[in-house]
Amino acid sequence: MIDLAKKRVMLTGGAGFLGSYVAEKLKARGCKDIFIPRKADYNLVEADAVKRAFADSRPDVVIHLAAKVGGIGANRENPGSFFYDNLMMGAQLMEQARLNGVEKFVALGTICAYPKFAPVPFKEEDLWNGYPEETNAPYGLAKKMLLVQSQAYRQQYGFNSIYLLPVNLYGPRDNFDPASSHVIPALIKKCVEAVSSGAKEITVWGTGKATREFLYVEDCAEAIVLATEKYNSPDPVNIGAGFEITIKDLVELIAKLTGFTGKLVWDSSKPDGQPRRMLDTSKAQKEFGFESQNGFEKGLKNTILWYKSVS
Ligand SMILES: NC(=O)c1ccc[n+]([C@@H]2O[C@H](COP(=O)([O-])OP(=O)(O)OC[C@H]3O[C@@H](n4cnc5c(N)ncnc54)[C@H](OP(=O)(O)O)[C@@H]3O)[C@@H](O)[C@H]2O)c1
Repeated sequence: MIDLAKKRVMLTGGAGFLGSYVAEKLKARGCKDIFIPRKADYNLVEADAVKRAFADSRPDVVIHLAAKVGGIGANRENPGSFFYDNLMMGAQLMEQARLNGVEKFVALGTICAYPKFAPVPFKEEDLWNGYPEETNAPYGLAKKMLLVQSQAYRQQYGFNSIYLLPVNLYGPRDNFDPASSHVIPALIKKCVEAVSSGAKEITVWGTGKATREFLYVEDCAEAIVLATEKYNSPDPVNIGAGFEITIKDLVELIAKLTGFTGKLVWDSSKPDGQPRRMLDTSKAQKEFGFESQNGFEKGLKNTILWYKSVS
């Protein structure tokens, strides 16, 4: 068990959506020395900036959350930079962490690393049994290399790096920019705006048949901190809420919670993305006692309230 109150932590991506919750959880554990390398000061795609970040902060622990992320649209438009930025950040950070004698490295993967047709619920053992869904494969595979690197460094150097695979996240402070947002903020924004403008219909991407699992962002942050404290094995671990909902049911639920009563128009010329997504979450429970605490409807209500308060 690592006592985070006594450690210097480098938290890459610590000012982002998930990172801001992880920073709060670390502070709540008594951790006073948290270094967040912001992109404007340390572009972690560049080798020199990565070296400088280590020289400036001399961390005991690295939690690597920084990433170029986005929904299906952003992934389709930027497959090259999603691949390059994520691969380069991860590879260089872990190498410098090793060279700088870091005690523990926590790498974040994503459900997008799973094969397109992995049996549901996705088990960690099935991670390599096929190519990911095409729209997010460059992103998913770039992040998956962190698992290969973690296991190779543990084997050759005895370096303690762990790899976590969170499902799709949502919650207050999410990214609501339509150019890069994920499905939940995109739908909340559409419904809230339609209610206030009196629009009679909204258009939704895909057929509605795909399924997804969603984890409240604060729960994910707790899982990351628990794993940082307690988990020290080479095997990847899923981080999820353990349920599955169709996009059609999701849209109807968000319409209900935002008070949108108009028509839902499905644009089936837009991709559904991966057909089904749901994680087997038993390993996180067994290995470091993580279970999601916030129910889906409650989490959605919090997110809608927060969005209305800032929009
Ligand atoms: N959101 C999800 O549904 C989800 C699901 C599974 C996994 N994840 C993983 O969770 C992590 C955090 O995602 P998020 O949704 O919180 O994303 P986010 O809000 O976009 O935050 C990403 C952070 O990464 C930093 N960053 C990006 N490029 C950088 C660069 N070149 N150099 C330095 N920092 C850079 C940004 O720093 P600045 O603020 O300084 O620009 C930003 O704060 C990612 O690793 C992502 O793959 C997210």
